[in-house]
Amino acid sequence: MDAIKYLEDLERRAELGGGADRLKKQHDAGKLTARERVDLLFDPGTFQEADKLVTHRCRDFGMDEQVIPGDGVVCGQGRVDGRPVFAFAQDFTVFGGSLSETNAAKIVKVMDLALKMGAPIVGLNDSGGARIQEGVLSLGGYADIFLRNTLASGVIPQISAIMGPCAGGAVYSPAITDFNIMVEGTSYMFVTGPDVIKTVTHEEVTKEQLGGAKTHNEISGVAHFATPDDRECLRTIRELLGYLPSNNVDDPPRRETSDPVDREDEALETLIPASPNQPYDMHDLVHIIADEGAFLEVHRHYAKNIIVGFARLGGRSVGIVANQPAHLAGTLDIDASVKAARFVRFCDAFNIPLVTFEDVPGFLPGTRQEYGGIIRHGAKLLFAYAEATVPKLTVITRKAYGGAYCVMSSKHIRTDVNLAWPSAEIAVMGPEGAVNILYKREIDAAADKDAARAKRVAEFKEKFANPYVAAARGFVDEVIRPRQTRARLIAALASLDTKRDKNPPKKHGNIPL
Ligand code: HXC
Repeated sequence: MDAIKYLEDLERRAELGGGADRLKKQHDAGKLTARERVDLLFDPGTFQEADKLVTHRCRDFGMDEQVIPGDGVVCGQGRVDGRPVFAFAQDFTVFGGSLSETNAAKIVKVMDLALKMGAPIVGLNDSGGARIQEGVLSLGGYADIFLRNTLASGVIPQISAIMGPCAGGAVYSPAITDFNIMVEGTSYMFVTGPDVIKTVTHEEVTKEQLGGAKTHNEISGVAHFATPDDRECLRTIRELLGYLPSNNVDDPPRRETSDPVDREDEALETLIPASPNQPYDMHDLVHIIADEGAFLEVHRHYAKNIIVGFARLGGRSVGIVANQPAHLAGTLDIDASVKAARFVRFCDAFNIPLVTFEDVPGFLPGTRQEYGGIIRHGAKLLFAYAEATVPKLTVITRKAYGGAYCVMSSKHIRTDVNLAWPSAEIAVMGPEGAVNILYKREIDAAADKDAARAKRVAEFKEKFANPYVAAARGFVDEVIRPRQTRARLIAALASLDTKRDKNPPKKHGNIPL
């Protein structure tokens, strides 16, 4: 056969994957193929494939009769918004996308290249897990990938999309990466599936209930995004990458913006309700101050009492962390602490300044929280903020009470710029709680208890429930008009462009895991 024809034939076989029938089955299941996904992930025409002709070496179970060039994973590099990105896409049409020794070696190769080049790696997961015919060789391949995920953590951004099955130990690669995006209805993740669960615990549960996109976005927090289909999943990855630097020594990309840096918004002046116990939606504040109102929320469906995500201010990427008074009154609980701590550490690792909007009445009380270890989990957020050396800015919009005041990027844990609105209340606890403790005997003895309590509450409010004691100490740098928030933050970020700060030399800290 003519040499060129031979090559073309091999390439065509690689591109056909598991064959026309299996490709159709993939489409019928509402999923795109690995190659279609790669095409949508990268800027058109930029994808360069590697190892297209790699084949497995298994000779058992009739596998020598079934050799498909590429062996069930499409690997390579391309550009996203012009910047280099590496990727692998598991091809479910080839042995169910299962991981063989050679398939793992392809993934490892592309991961090593990404690390060497300082470029993000994206994994598109759609696999039946370990290639059963290859036994321990496949397990070894997984471990090789987990090691690379760990070594690359904090060096290059790692993003996992779950676009089909991801089960057993295979879940631990996405689990180590920075972000997991799950496609609704077609993806699932679990360590042990419904059948094993039924045998061991007698629980009846479907795959979707156990490990679908909704479960991991709302209940477990394993996933950070849920998207309705493959296209939206790949679009979200591109959007996310747009906020991130290529690696831990680069700065995040600056974006031109037509949104004026000194834009003021009257609506902020009336955002805080008259009553301190009335909720408001912190999303409104985030959208008002962000460039063009754009905010990519991470973990939108999980621990809604804290909001985290990416925005731009004057063209600079920032990580936003904001208490949400509209959910659980914005208290910090276990889930919120862990969610925010991981986000803060991601931003710190990748030179993304942190902007914190604070309205927190304290930690959530209750035995569930205490038994669940809120002490340990709350400490994660404190540790993460204290350890972070990126530019840190805080705006206290209303409550900053108790330990939560210290935790939420206070001046004392090296925050660079601490601003407060005139509506800020900074104290050890809320006026009612404080008065009930400090003046219990006086109130109990009073003929009109309510009047006695109200008098003391009013006194306490005047003295402490404001930003001025903190401002007098310099714990708050400036009390600003709410409408000036965007302009003040952008000016502060600009002045922090040259910030250099570091932690004492150490192997690594011991964050309370
Ligand atoms: C080899 C596999 C495979 C696997 C699927 N296939 N999983 N081949 N190794 N792990 C093949 C099937 O034989 C089939 O081949 C094709 O892929 C499509 O699979 P179907 O079963 O027809 O598809 P579907 O009905 O959609 O079901 C998908 C599935 C199921 C739920 C993923 O295939 C399944 O349960 N697979 C086994 C999952 C599993 O137990 N994996 C090991 C987990 S433990 P044909 O030729 O018919 O198209 C693990 C440990 C990792 O992964 C440890 C890391 C530390």
